[in-house]
Amino acid sequence: MVKVLMVCLGNICRSPLAEGILKSKVFRFKIDVDSAGTGAYHVGEQPDRRSIAVAKANGIDISTQKARKFKVKDFDKFDYIYVMDNSNYRDVMALARNDKDKSKVKLILNEVFPNENLDVPDPYYGGEFGFKNVYNMLDEACDVIAKKLNPDV
Ligand code: 4NP
Repeated sequence: MVKVLMVCLGNICRSPLAEGILKSKVFRFKIDVDSAGTGAYHVGEQPDRRSIAVAKANGIDISTQKARKFKVKDFDKFDYIYVMDNSNYRDVMALARNDKDKSKVKLILNEVFPNENLDVPDPYYGGEFGFKNVYNMLDEACDVIAKKLNPDV
């Protein structure tokens, strides 16, 4: 079973959306998708209501997700670790124990814009538009990821 982990800072805005969107595209296949945050501020909380709303508007229910912190053991459990921005990238890479761990960590927008190292902007302090923008970016990235994981998609 292929295992994919989506990572942001709080695990309440961006990575829960990425988890829900990718799950909606690969649910027919044996692919496990989870998400986590590099920070512990929101551990145990459900996703931000604005992420829940934009997902719901697109037919995806992320309301039952619970925030958790990224842990070193995630390098063992997951095959692909997609981070939302360059700050998440630095934080996760700093925890990597070896080259194998490091090779699993990728900026999610590099799937759409290879080698450009673009950030999925943190929408936490912005308005509703920021969440729609994040949703659209992640939807595009998850399309590419789903096709990579299963060429029949
Ligand atoms: P996320 O957004 O990393 O996309 O979940 C954030 C949510 C909360 C905070 C920062 C980012 N915070 O600092 O509380």
